[in-house]
Amino acid sequence: MNSAVKAGAVIAAAGSGERFGEKKQFKRLRKRTLLFHTLKPFLECGDVSEIVVVVPEENLALVSRELKSFTSAKPVKAVVGGTRRQDSVLNGCLALSNNVEIIAVHDAARPFVTSKLISATIDGCNDADGCIAALPSKDTVKKVKNNQIQSTLDRNVIWLAQTPQTFHKDVLIKALQQDMIATDEASMVEAVGGKVAVTKGFAGNFKITTHEDWKLAEELIKEK
Ligand code: CTP
Ligand code: MG
Repeated sequence: MNSAVKAGAVIAAAGSGERFGEKKQFKRLRKRTLLFHTLKPFLECGDVSEIVVVVPEENLALVSRELKSFTSAKPVKAVVGGTRRQDSVLNGCLALSNNVEIIAVHDAARPFVTSKLISATIDGCNDADGCIAALPSKDTVKKVKNNQIQSTLDRNVIWLAQTPQTFHKDVLIKALQQDMIATDEASMVEAVGGKVAVTKGFAGNFKITTHEDWKLAEELIKEK
């Protein structure tokens, strides 16, 4: 799968893992770190021309050294992140080379992403400002306040956002620079009026947030 346009990738790995209890991105999942498992499909994806990994300041030296130690056909480097995820992603975007026009943002905590899904989000940018992986909701979704249901959302229009979230560079950087707090890039691009498409992700592309997720990932990685 080779789109005409190549993309740069930003892997967000600068979180502190509060809910997990430690920086899960550097913990070993079987033989390699979680971050390495996540990096692999990006290294293999023919539509990605370079990769920036965003890490906490105290991990920069070690991660940079590790990245230099493996052979890769494309440039891979590490930069320091920020307090909020969006600050980390912005730092990553600004560290890509000037000729990158499309940026695929991905959570280090989603190791089961595939190069096919990465390419699908890149292809989706041909006729939109961005394209994200998302999953149609299988459950009915309720809006709840103080334990009481406020409303029931129409399941047919509910999609659960995953990553990669891929955008044209200019609109993404503009979106990330606005005064807004968000949990994903798409909502920031939407807020500046950007048109964002979805491409179907898959349940296996889940985010490792808790120890329960880690156990599941350990089982799945055996089969990889
Ligand atoms: N992330 C980041 N910079 C931040 C915060 C998060 O790069 N300032 C990254 C994390 O490393 C992770 C991804 O964003 O790969 C998704 O975030 P999440 O699962 O919330 O990880 P953490 O923020 O580390 O966990 P927690 O919210 O429990 O502290
Ligand atoms: Mg977080």
